Amino acid sequence: MNPVFYHNDSGRAWVTIDNPPVNATSQAVRAGLIEAMVSAERDNCRTGVIVCLGKTFVAGGDISEFGKPPQEPHLPDVYWQLEQSPVIWAVALHGTVLGGGFELAMAAHVRVAATGTRFGLPEVNLGLVPGAGGTQRLPRLVGAELAADLASSGRMIDAQVLFDAGGLDAVVDDDLEGHIGKLLDSASSHPLTTSERNILPVADDYFSTLAVSVEKKAKGAKAPLLNIEAVKWATETDFSEGQVRERQLHLALRDSEQSIALRHAFFAERLVSKPAVIKNVSAAAVKHITVVGGGLMGAGISAACLAAGLNVHLIEVDESAVTAANERVTGLLQGALKRGKITEAGFEAQRKAFSCGDDYRASANTDIAIEAVFEDMRVKQKVFVELAKHIRDDAILATNTSYLNPEEIGADIKNPQRIVGLHFFSPAHIMKLLEIVATKHTNEQALATAFSLAKRIRKVGVLSGVCDGFIGNRMLAAYRRQGDYLLADGATPQQIDAAMRAYGLPMGPYELQDLTGLQIGWANRKRQAPTRAATERYVSIADQLCEKERFGQRSGSGWYRYESNNRSPVVDDEVEQLIQAYSNKNGIQRRAFTDQEIQDSMIAVLANEGARILEDDIAERALDIDMVKIHGYGFPRWRGGPMHAADTMGDDAVAAILATVDKQSPNSWVIAKKYQR
Ligand code: NAI
Repeated sequence: MNPVFYHNDSGRAWVTIDNPPVNATSQAVRAGLIEAMVSAERDNCRTGVIVCLGKTFVAGGDISEFGKPPQEPHLPDVYWQLEQSPVIWAVALHGTVLGGGFELAMAAHVRVAATGTRFGLPEVNLGLVPGAGGTQRLPRLVGAELAADLASSGRMIDAQVLFDAGGLDAVVDDDLEGHIGKLLDSASSHPLTTSERNILPVADDYFSTLAVSVEKKAKGAKAPLLNIEAVKWATETDFSEGQVRERQLHLALRDSEQSIALRHAFFAERLVSKPAVIKNVSAAAVKHITVVGGGLMGAGISAACLAAGLNVHLIEVDESAVTAANERVTGLLQGALKRGKITEAGFEAQRKAFSCGDDYRASANTDIAIEAVFEDMRVKQKVFVELAKHIRDDAILATNTSYLNPEEIGADIKNPQRIVGLHFFSPAHIMKLLEIVATKHTNEQALATAFSLAKRIRKVGVLSGVCDGFIGNRMLAAYRRQGDYLLADGATPQQIDAAMRAYGLPMGPYELQDLTGLQIGWANRKRQAPTRAATERYVSIADQLCEKERFGQRSGSGWYRYESNNRSPVVDDEVEQLIQAYSNKNGIQRRAFTDQEIQDSMIAVLANEGARILEDDIAERALDIDMVKIHGYGFPRWRGGPMHAADTMGDDAVAAILATVDKQSPNSWVIAKKYQR
C-alpha cells in the first residue's frame, strides 16, 4: 500500500504520509514523496502542505534499511527536489520530528509546529551523521553553535526553542493546518530556500574547543566528533559540496563497526523486553507495591516506583528503622525536586503515595511485594513467610537478592509460581538495569507482570535464570578473576584500569571496586570457597587487602589510597609491594602485558562466561547479556556489549585468546563449547 497520499485542493497540494508507527522515510515513502511532488507540479499547484497521520511527524529513517545497499530514490535527492520545487511547500509538524523527519522539515519552505513538538538529530546515537542535509541545512537555519550541539549530542529540543533560534515560522496551540493555510495564502513569492541562506560566523576556535569537550564525554565513540566536523563543513563550503561530503560520510559510517554495534544495541533494547516465554501472556495490573527493608536498595526501589506513579508502602523492623527509611526515601524525592526532575506538585503527590511502617497488615492490597532486607537467607525466608500471610494469593513475591537462590528464599511458600527475583542495581532509582529472575516454578504471568513493572518504572528488564550472581554478577566474577590473574602475573591495578578505560568503560575494575567497596566480593569469595574447584587458580591479593581493612574509598584505601576529601585514586606503594610479594611467594616470574593483551583477555573471558550462560539456559539470547552489561555495568554501547564485541572479533580469534588465557591459568576456566578448538 502506498504510504503517501496526494490530493489537489483548488491549487493547494495536500500530501499525507501514513507509515506507522513513526512515519519513517522508508523507500516507499521516499518514492511516494517524489510522486506527490511531480503531481503537484503537473497540477500547477502554487502551494503544498506535507502532513503526517498518527502520533508523530516523520521520526527518522527506516533503520532496518541501514544494513542494506541504499535504494533509490535517495533521501538527499528527494529533499533537494522539494527545496527546488516551484511549489511553495509547508510542513505541519507534531510529535517528535527526528532525523530524516527534521531534515524534511529543514528542506521545506514554511515550517509550522504544534506546541510541544520536539526536534532532534539522533543519528549520532546510531554511530552516524545525518544523511540528507541535516548537518548542512541546520546551521543555515539556526546557527552553527546550536546545530553542532544537536548533531553531536542527539538531544531533543522543544518547538519553542527551535522557533526562538529561527528554525520555525510559527508554533501554534491548535488548528495547525488552518495556520499553515493562512501563512501560505499570504506568501506572495517563493521564499529563500534553506540551502541558500548564509551562516553567521562563529569564533575561530569554536569547533576545536567544542571537539575537546565532546571527545572527552564520548569515551571512544567516534560519531559525536564526526558530527561536529560535518557541521563545520557547512561553514567552510557551499551547500552542494557540504551535502555531498555529508552523504559520503553517512554511507561510509553505515558499514562501520561502531554503527553496526550501536544498531545492535538499539534493536536489542526493543527485543529484550520480549523474551519467548512471555509471548502472548498478559500482565496483571499493578498499582500497589510493598517494599520490605528501607536501606540503600529499598529506598531507591521505592523512589523508582513512586516516580512511576505507583503507591508504595515500605516495611521496616522497628520505629527507629521506619523513621530512618522514611528520611531516606524523602531525601531521594527532595533530590529529584532540587534537580528539577519533578515539580513541587509531583513531589507532594509522591509523598502522598508513600507510607512507611512496621506492620505487615498494611500490605494486604499489594500487587507486588519486593524484599530488600539484609543478604541473609534466614532473614529473607522469614520476610517471605510474613508477607505471604498478608498479601493476596495472586500477588507477586519478589526478592532483590544479589546472590542467594530465590527458590530457597521461597522454600516455605505454598504457591512458589508467583516468586520472582527483581534484581535492581545501585542506586536503584537511577540505574537502568533490572534483572528479572525466573525460578523453575515461576509462572509466565508473574514474569509478564515483572516485565510490565520494569517498563512502567523505566528500567531495562532482562530475563535471567537462577545461578550464582545471575547474569551480571556472574560475568563480573569472571572478569575480576582474570584481572587478578593478570595482576599476579605482572600487571598493576592502574595498568588494567587504564586499559579498560581505553577500551571504553567508564572505570577500570580496580577503581570500581574501590568505589563500591571490597566487602561484598570478599564475602562472596568466602561463600564460594567450599564449592570452588580444587584445581582452580585462586589469587588472594584482594583478600589480603580486606584483611588489612583496605575496603576502598570509604575506608580511605583499597587498591589505591585516597587523600582526605578527594576521591581520586592515588597509586599506593604498599599495594604494589603486596602484589610483588604475592608473585614472589608463588614463584611467578612477573612479565609485562600490553594494553591490548589485557583488553583482549578481559573481553574474551566475558564472552566465554556469556557463552556458558547461554549453554546453561540462564539467558535466552546473547542480546540479553549485552543489555545487562550495557545498562548495568557501563559497557560501552558503541561496542554493542561483550557478546557483540566478541562476534566482531570473530569466534576463532576469541578462541585463540582463551587458549592463551587457559594456558596462563591452567584448570581455572571452563571453555564454552563455542570456543573449544
Ligand atoms: P542495607 O543494609 O542498606 O538495608 C537493609 C535494610 O533492611 C535495613 O534498613 C534493615 O533495617 C532492613 N531489614 C533487615 N531485616 C529486616 C526485616 N526482617 N524486616 C524489615 N526490614 C529489615 O542493605 P542494601 O544494600 O539495601 O541491600 C539489601 C538487599 O539488596 C540485599 O539482599 C543485597 O544483596 C541486595 N542488593 C544490594 C545492592 C547494593 O549495591 N547494595 C545491589 C543489588 C542488590
